Amino acid sequence: MNVNRRVQTLDEFTIQQLRDFPQATGELSHLLRNIGLAAKRVNVEVNKAGLVDILGDAGTVNVQGEEVKKLDVYANDQLTRVLQHGIACAGIASEELDDFVAFDDAKSVKSKYVCLFDPLDGSSNIDVNVSIGTIFSVYRRVTPIGTVVTKQDFLQPGNQQVAAGYVVYGSSTMLVYATRRGVNGFTLDPSVGEWTLSHPDIKCPERGKIYSVNHGNFFQYDDNVRKYINVCQNKTKADGGPYTQRYIGSMVSDVHRNLIKGGIFMYPGTTDRPKGKLRLLYECNPFAFIMTVAGGKATNGKIGILDIEPTELHQRTPLYIGSKLMMEELETYLAP
Ligand code: AHG
Ligand code: MN
Ligand code: MN
Repeated sequence: MNVNRRVQTLDEFTIQQLRDFPQATGELSHLLRNIGLAAKRVNVEVNKAGLVDILGDAGTVNVQGEEVKKLDVYANDQLTRVLQHGIACAGIASEELDDFVAFDDAKSVKSKYVCLFDPLDGSSNIDVNVSIGTIFSVYRRVTPIGTVVTKQDFLQPGNQQVAAGYVVYGSSTMLVYATRRGVNGFTLDPSVGEWTLSHPDIKCPERGKIYSVNHGNFFQYDDNVRKYINVCQNKTKADGGPYTQRYIGSMVSDVHRNLIKGGIFMYPGTTDRPKGKLRLLYECNPFAFIMTVAGGKATNGKIGILDIEPTELHQRTPLYIGSKLMMEELETYLAP
């Protein structure tokens, strides 16, 4: 087979980006490479998920006598292990772990970055063969290099992110990541196991026709949100419509589609859960960063997601995210 050398790999791309910064150490490239490696391993298991019934349910012992782990636990272990053994990450926080983990070995305490992630997002969709994802967020630590990281390193507002990204395990597997310089998407070439640049310099269209929200919660949303949903339902051609409603229930896939096609995704607070469902640090912040770099917007209905000062690792926030002009229209309803 001929390898197409016109396409750039993830490694080539990140190293080339470094050439403009002679003082850069290359640690971020290493970190992204390691996340890409963990994601490839997760991808292999996600593709086998349909075989779980044959090979053994999660929590049982499979035919090889190995314990079958839940995929979210497996993904969490892979990411944690790969980052711990790498040379760029001093600690992690994860949806799957109550507290952050500081890597206290001699190599890791000298690393510059901390990483927060949702190892498997949309995991209730695994059983029914619907796309799921991994979400990650990278910060430069605020404590001195050479010391063990503390909670302070993880509780930084989203506007301090150095990079953020996600992986969609979909009809193809894609890794999309953003730095302040831009958003780029890499598709996994399964024949050679390489991430190849397929979506350079992603920009979110200023307007789209898609709105994504859980309509089942409609009567639990406040009046302003309901009014805006009615606006979406009543858009005419003259008005930039008609809109179409799309909601997979996997945030990664829903926001990925809207990022590429243009659209708006909402997870408002409900009467039962005034802060909604989604987590600020490893679900909302990374997407808010990516969307903002791509030209879109993200708010909690009152302030920009990236400006929220976090107080807890697992705190939740309402989320409204998407195309710039659609977000501006939504904001006239949320803060009339
Ligand atoms: P997770 O699988 O990590 O718990 O997250 C699932 C999230 C998110 O992906 C999705 O947008 C949302 O849950 C869907 O929630 P509802 O079913 O309440 O709409
Ligand atoms: Mn999630
Ligand atoms: Mn999850």
